[in-house]
Amino acid sequence: MMNELIFATNNQHKLTEVQSLIGDSFKLMSLKDIGCNEDIPETAPTLEGNALLKARFIFSTFSKNCFADDTGLEIEALDGRPGVFSARYATDGHDFEANIDKVLAELSGIRNRNARFRTVIALILDGSVHYFEGIVNGKIITERKGAEGFGYDPVFIPDGYQDTFAEMPLSEKNKISHRARAVNKLVDFLNQKK
Ligand code: IMP
Repeated sequence: MMNELIFATNNQHKLTEVQSLIGDSFKLMSLKDIGCNEDIPETAPTLEGNALLKARFIFSTFSKNCFADDTGLEIEALDGRPGVFSARYATDGHDFEANIDKVLAELSGIRNRNARFRTVIALILDGSVHYFEGIVNGKIITERKGAEGFGYDPVFIPDGYQDTFAEMPLSEKNKISHRARAVNKLVDFLNQKK
């Protein structure tokens, strides 16, 4: 029987993308697929902590192998902020525009524009915890460019590129993104378990 693995997300796009990378050795299930409608708390002070909180919640409730991810934008001149607060930096909600405005205001007049996106995946497999990290380094520009993507994409240019993530086709971003890098490490690990 195919191994089932729960991805603690309700983002169908993420689920499909990761399933296509993993292939058919593991069947991914979303929170909806297992009937989990809980709002899983993300109250830890780090990306690692939040990813683990989500994975632990599923493991302790459903006793199934699972993984969860958490991502943040870490800006050097802001001591790593917004970091774990990336989704709710300016407001309580996921207000992408307000978040970008806040970052640009805080960086106003600052020459060091270095930043990175960092994704952490926490996997609980047969009761053991494993972490996988994906990083993409880049710069925050002074005004928005592009309409693709989401979040901070319009103000982030990855190193080695001229375009922001929001100016790239999704297929291009997915080749180099923080999330893709973390997922690829997870997939390599799972493939060794086949
Ligand atoms: P999540 O952990 O994937 O939900 O990401 C948390 C927050 O980080 C999102 O709400 C976005 O603000 C930001 N973020 C995560 N991934 C990206 C990305 O690929 N581009 C731009 N912003 C992102």
